[in-house]
Amino acid sequence: MLDAATLKNDFPILQQTVHDDVPLVYLDSAASAQKPQSVIDALSRIDSTVYANVHRGAHWLSDTSTALYEESREAIAAFIKAQKSHEVIFTTGTTGAINTVARSWGDANISAGDEILLTRLEHHSNIIPWQQLSERTGATIRWCDITEDGQLDLDDFESLLSERTKIVACTMASNVLGTYTPAKRITQLAHDAGAVVVLDAAQAVPHKSVDVTDLDADFIAFSAHKMLGPSGVGILYGKETLLEAMPPFLGGGSMIDVVSEEGFTTASLPAKFEAGTPAITPVLAFPSCIDYLRQVGMENIQQHEHALASYAHEQLEALGTINILGPHPDAKAGVVSFTVDNLHPHDLTHALDNQGVAIRAGHHCAMPLHRRLGISASARASFYVYNTREDVDKLIQAIAKAIELFS
Ligand code: ALA
Repeated sequence: MLDAATLKNDFPILQQTVHDDVPLVYLDSAASAQKPQSVIDALSRIDSTVYANVHRGAHWLSDTSTALYEESREAIAAFIKAQKSHEVIFTTGTTGAINTVARSWGDANISAGDEILLTRLEHHSNIIPWQQLSERTGATIRWCDITEDGQLDLDDFESLLSERTKIVACTMASNVLGTYTPAKRITQLAHDAGAVVVLDAAQAVPHKSVDVTDLDADFIAFSAHKMLGPSGVGILYGKETLLEAMPPFLGGGSMIDVVSEEGFTTASLPAKFEAGTPAITPVLAFPSCIDYLRQVGMENIQQHEHALASYAHEQLEALGTINILGPHPDAKAGVVSFTVDNLHPHDLTHALDNQGVAIRAGHHCAMPLHRRLGISASARASFYVYNTREDVDKLIQAIAKAIELFS
C-alpha cells in the first residue's frame, strides 16, 4: 500500500491554505491532477537548459530537445506497453486525440448507413466528435445503455453490435461514476463484428495499469494533466496498420515529406499526425510523471483509490440524505459522485469550497449520462495518490455542515 500522507508532501500546491487560512483538501483530480515537485522541477529544468523547437533546428539545443522528445515517446509507449513507439502520437489532449481519429479514420472510412456505437457513460469529448462525424457522413449513432447501478450493460452492447457497426467508442472509466468498463471484452466483441474500437482512457491510464497490446485496442486516448503532468499534451495510441492507412488530420509544418505548388506528400509516422510546433516542454516533462507513478506503483494506486472510494461510500451512506451514483467501489475508480436531498450540487460545492474542500459540481461534460440518471447535475469527489482518509473525513464533515447550513 502507498503512504498518501508522505506522498502529499511531494505536492507543494497541497501544502497551502485557502480563503481565510483554511487548509486545502483537493478532491478534484479527475478534472486535473496536481504536480509533484519532481515534475515541477523537470518543467523548470527543461525550460532552463534544453528548450528549443523540435525536429527543426540544426543546433545543439534543438538536437537535444528533439532527442528528449523522442525519448518521451518511447517512455510513454513502454508505460502503456505499445509495441512500437511511433504508435504513440502527441496531441493536445484526450479531446484532440479522439477528434483526430474521428476526422482522420472516420472521414476516410465512414459513410451513410454505417453505425457508430457509443455508450451512455461517455464524456462529451467522446460524443461530439462522433456526432460531428455523423453529421458529415450520414452515419447513425447507437447508444449502449447502463445498468441501474451505473455499469455498462453488456447485453445491450452485444444486441446493438452488427455488421453495420464501424466504430465503437467507449470510455475505460467514467469521469462521473468512476465505472470501469470491460474494455478487453468490448474490444473482442467489437472486433468480432468487424468494428474499430476507440477507448477513452483519460480516467484509466492515470489510475491503473493499462496494456494496449493485451487489450488489442485500435485507438486509445489520454492526457498528461490527469496523471500528475502539465496540461496541453495528450496521447493518441493507434495500431500501426490503422495509423499508416489514415490521412493526416491537421496540415502544416513537420507532417510533410515534400511540398510543391502542386501539392504535398506526407511524412511517415508519427510526424504525419504532429503538424505544427508541439507542446515541447510538457512533452519533455511527461517521463517525469511516469517515473513518479511507476515509483508509487500502479497496483498500489488502484488499491489506494479503491480503499478511499470504499471509505467515502461508507461515510456518505452514514450521513443519510445522500444518493451515491454509480456502482459499488469494487467496480470503479476513485471517483464518487452523489447528490444531496434538497441541496443543489452547486450550492453544496460552494459551501465545501468555503471550508477548503475542492470538489466539482455540474454535469461534468456528461449531459447524456446525467439525463439517463434523471438528474441535471451532481457533486463529484475524486481521489489520487496524495489523498488520505483524513481528506475523506474532512469532505464528510464539510458536507454535514453544508446540510445543516441549508436546512
Ligand atoms: N474531464 C474532466 C472532468 O471530468 C475535465 O472533470
